[in-house]
Amino acid sequence: MFNDTQRNYFKTLKTPFYYYDMEVLNQTLQQLKAAAPADYHIHYALKANANPEILQLIKHYGLGADCVSGNEVKRALETGFKPEEIVFAGVGKSDDEILLGLENDIFCFNVESSHELLVLNQLATQQGKTASIALRINPNVDAYTHKYITTGLEENKFGINPYELDDILSLLKTLKNIRLSGLHFHIGSQITSLTPYKNLCSRVNEINQFFIHKGLTVEHINLGGGLGINYKEPDTEAIVDFDAYFQVFKKFLALHPGQAVHFELGRSIVAQCGSLIARVLYIKNGITTNFAILDAGMTELIRPALYQAYHCIQSLEPAVSEERTRKYDVVGPICESSDCFGKAVVLPELKRGNLLAIRSAGAYGEVMSSRYNLRDETRSVYSQLGQINVGF
Ligand code: LLP
Repeated sequence: MFNDTQRNYFKTLKTPFYYYDMEVLNQTLQQLKAAAPADYHIHYALKANANPEILQLIKHYGLGADCVSGNEVKRALETGFKPEEIVFAGVGKSDDEILLGLENDIFCFNVESSHELLVLNQLATQQGKTASIALRINPNVDAYTHKYITTGLEENKFGINPYELDDILSLLKTLKNIRLSGLHFHIGSQITSLTPYKNLCSRVNEINQFFIHKGLTVEHINLGGGLGINYKEPDTEAIVDFDAYFQVFKKFLALHPGQAVHFELGRSIVAQCGSLIARVLYIKNGITTNFAILDAGMTELIRPALYQAYHCIQSLEPAVSEERTRKYDVVGPICESSDCFGKAVVLPELKRGNLLAIRSAGAYGEVMSSRYNLRDETRSVYSQLGQINVGF
């Protein structure tokens, strides 16, 4: 929800822009820290939002970083995350990216294939380094989420399949510059039921036992991220139930003494603090469909076009009593029919110049923006404890 000061301020700004409510982020981080058992290590997944202001606050709360590119590793280091708090995942790390991780002695490479192990060992040998790794294992657990963000099924490109593990262990014995430190799992994103996590724990317990029987008790187990948020009700459920999430692992994960637990959360930390603010450019009233054409499009927020994702759309105009409402297809200016934020959205009657907020856009919004159609760079504005700092 936005107050009058915010709304009046937004009116003076050039749209579209992302607005980040730093107080929401602050409260989310407080609740995350309060819910996470003291011995759980949380790495923030930079891929969700790598905005420097946001990273600063997250670092302030003592989280580590989960990176999926060399540039994310650089950004994490620039922000002040310590190398020993950085994990580097990704199915296709380039040689340069691996070298960057090696040079900086990061905590862990999450390795996704035997081929990657060979290349990592070769590069580490060249550099006279030993790479700490976690094997990313594909647990074949269904996350029951959109198929584009499901990662833990055998058909997905991610991770090592359990039937390959004997060969991987034989290979590891021959790789002198690799040190096996952990096991890594990540089954998908926007997971709104805790059942897949319960199922994940069962699989992780079996796989952990398999390693223990082979005489390998790994130092850490990384359960990835994926905790989903409430896109329908961003105001009533601004912060997810981190407590319930961690309780699943407390209850169902069977650890060997001394094994550490790591997580890589992205969306659940940053999604609700961000909104995309846009202006209505034109109204096109048809017989069956009214279109509200905005100055923001799939170039600023691609999630609806790419995953048919729902985002709550709210008018930022002051409420008028006995207001007339209409149903609008809320669309952007991009030359693609998929450039639509929502169909048949019920809104107060809109006029040119009205402001709309597309909510829950703090995760995978700005980071996935593009300059397609040679659009302007996406801009952002932050609020900090009632004060508004302009970020551009
Ligand atoms: N760890 C790994 C290995 C991942 O692949 C991901 C997300 C995360 C952690 C963080 O997941 P989170 O807690 O944010 O769900 N662009 C899509 C989401 C892609 C997620 C990619 N991986 C979207 O907008 O829904």
